[in-house]
Amino acid sequence: MSLNSYLAQADALDTANPLAPARAHFDLPANQKYFLGNSLGPLTHAARNVVSEAVDSEWKTGLVRTWHDGDWFDIAAATGNKIAHIIGAPHGSVIAGDSTSIALFKVLAAAVQKNTTATRNVLLCDINNFPTDRYVARSVADLFHLRYEECAVSEMPQRLNAHIAVVTASMIDFRSAEIHDVASITESAHHAGALIVWDLAHAAGIIPCDVERHRVDFAVGCGYKYMNGGPGAPAFMYVAPHLVNEVHQPIPGWFGHDAPFAFEDTYRPAQGISRFSSGTTNILSMKALHGALQVFEEFPIASIRTGSIALGNFFIAGFDEHLSQSGFSLGSPRESKARGGHIALLHNRAEALTTELISDGFIVDFRPPNVIRIALSPLFLRFSDVAALIARLRDAI
Ligand SMILES: Cc1ncc(COP(=O)(O)O)c(C=O)c1O
Repeated sequence: MSLNSYLAQADALDTANPLAPARAHFDLPANQKYFLGNSLGPLTHAARNVVSEAVDSEWKTGLVRTWHDGDWFDIAAATGNKIAHIIGAPHGSVIAGDSTSIALFKVLAAAVQKNTTATRNVLLCDINNFPTDRYVARSVADLFHLRYEECAVSEMPQRLNAHIAVVTASMIDFRSAEIHDVASITESAHHAGALIVWDLAHAAGIIPCDVERHRVDFAVGCGYKYMNGGPGAPAFMYVAPHLVNEVHQPIPGWFGHDAPFAFEDTYRPAQGISRFSSGTTNILSMKALHGALQVFEEFPIASIRTGSIALGNFFIAGFDEHLSQSGFSLGSPRESKARGGHIALLHNRAEALTTELISDGFIVDFRPPNVIRIALSPLFLRFSDVAALIARLRDAI
């Protein structure tokens, strides 16, 4: 297909796109095409409005009374419930707060404490996991006197045995966007007697995660990526309801106490997922995330996944026709069912090309040694944006 036909096809697809109205929820910068919803999701009107209200009315006027008169005290759980809906978790099983690194530390420590014995004393981590996950997992293993091991997720079923206490992996690889089979890896872990902790950072908000259906024990993820919660947005923690009251997280702060305002001498964990809170909620960033999640009430996650696959397939069609002969190759699975929300495009000039693209308003990022990462968020990106990127990449060579 000629480039002109490809561009024309993009316009036709945009006209027919059922997600097209979602773009109006975003306050996007002019003259930029934003392909990094997997890194920092863009601003929504709702996020701005909710934060403005919190600053101008709650903080300015209500001041400290808002802890009791407003929603500040419950907003971490309320935001968790919105996220629960997106990741397929039951109401009351998700809490928002902390950063993903800290959230991971807390749930890994809880899992390790629950499942370690004299002979079951290994923590097994995805070797391709995001660096913070590997650093945190190793630290938890050291602190709790476990042996730390790593392997690829594909090797985990063979590596699981009666010595593994806890397994941790990412549902979607942050480099390649490969989807790991949460259902089967979780089942293998359980079969071996291990607990599993999934990092959903690159999955939450772009693909159904079905944590309840897949019997996931623990999960964490970022609020600032596909959920558009803003820079440094709170992360989230999920703990399966049958486990939550049996586990203890390692930072027993007053916000996770059963009666925070009783100021008791001794820590008594709250029942349910609230025990995973530690200190005072970061209200302003929680408000931004809470507001940003409104768009997911109008556009369910299944429709977002359909839109994301359509954009990904359209990109790959453009790649095959216009880029594959010019030194580019795909670093992500071609098959949509194996591919998450972004595409890794490989080129030996990836770093320089990324700089050129950004200066032309195509916002992508570079991951060493040769990856241009392109996230295709269907809530605000159009097929015509993808076609324009393909045309720009073709011209670059
Ligand atoms: C898969 C994954 N896990 C964890 C993190 C780190 O999250 P945080 O900075 O919230 O600790 C990231 C950040 O990009 C990530 O991609």
